[in-house]
Amino acid sequence: MTKFLSKWSRKFHRWIAVPTALLIPLVVIIKLFGSPELLAAWEKLDKLPSLLMLVMAISGAYLYLLPYIVKAQRKKKVDPLAGSKQSSPAD
Ligand code: HEM
Repeated sequence: MTKFLSKWSRKFHRWIAVPTALLIPLVVIIKLFGSPELLAAWEKLDKLPSLLMLVMAISGAYLYLLPYIVKAQRKKKVDPLAGSKQSSPAD
């Protein structure tokens, strides 16, 4: 399951990065040099860059945590008793 999520979250992050990277400089140009009509038309789509950044931040945070999640799962598989109290021969 983690493998599936890892593959798709990476693909998702990579593909959403393209419109994000294109849109943000475009918005700066529109805001700086756009005609009043263009600025009025843009008003309706004003939330789009922040929305894309939020999606990137959420998928990026998951990608950041992924190695730690995989490590924890591997540890659980290899040593299911790790973390619980084990009896020693001295007991
Ligand atoms: C806003 C918060 C963001 C966070 C927390 C974040 C985090 C990450 C992380 C942790 C990775 C994986 C690195 C690795 O393990 O190799 C990654 C990959 C990447 N990020 Fe982001 N990122 C963010 C935003 C962005 C933005 C705004 C862009 C571009 C517009 C972007 C483009 C990419 C690309 C192209 C990759 C490589 C994906 C691949 O594996 O092919 N990220 N990011």
